[in-house]
Amino acid sequence: MFTERLQNAINDQIAAEFYSAYLYLAMSAYFESKDLPGMAHWMRMQYEEEVIHALKFFDYMNDRGAPVVLNAIDAPPAEFGSVTEVFEEVLAHEQKVTSLIHNLYTLAVEEGDYPTQSLLQWYIDEQVEEEKSASEVLARVKMVQDYPPGLLMMDQELAARPAPTPPAGEAA
Ligand code: FEO
Repeated sequence: MFTERLQNAINDQIAAEFYSAYLYLAMSAYFESKDLPGMAHWMRMQYEEEVIHALKFFDYMNDRGAPVVLNAIDAPPAEFGSVTEVFEEVLAHEQKVTSLIHNLYTLAVEEGDYPTQSLLQWYIDEQVEEEKSASEVLARVKMVQDYPPGLLMMDQELAARPAPTPPAGEAA
């Protein structure tokens, strides 16, 4: 059943996804300020991805006739550490989001809400990809962190990240 408790938890997750978007946009601005446009671009694509995640929950609430409540979004930090530290923060953040999604799934099971379980399966799979991509970039950044020409090559490589595509059948 689509209980109020579950609806509230999904509304909280909409804000969490927008916070993720905000965090990555802040990281994008940070890399712009450090003259690393490729990393800034990668973060901007990550920002777009998070907006898609938020809107998928938003659309779902509307599809089920449940009230969307847009909660306040916290301000992200404006300053970050080294390139390695930024990507460590990305991975840690994604691991935190994964646990939020898993908690939501547990709640959907407890409430016996099958459509929400089905929806969350998409997010569970998506988080595997999110953590994988953050881990890969972090591992490679660590390899070149003390070698500026390597970091610049990495920056060029991250500039090639394509724009995310919304899930099929969605306008986001
Ligand atoms: Fe919406 Fe990066 O998880």
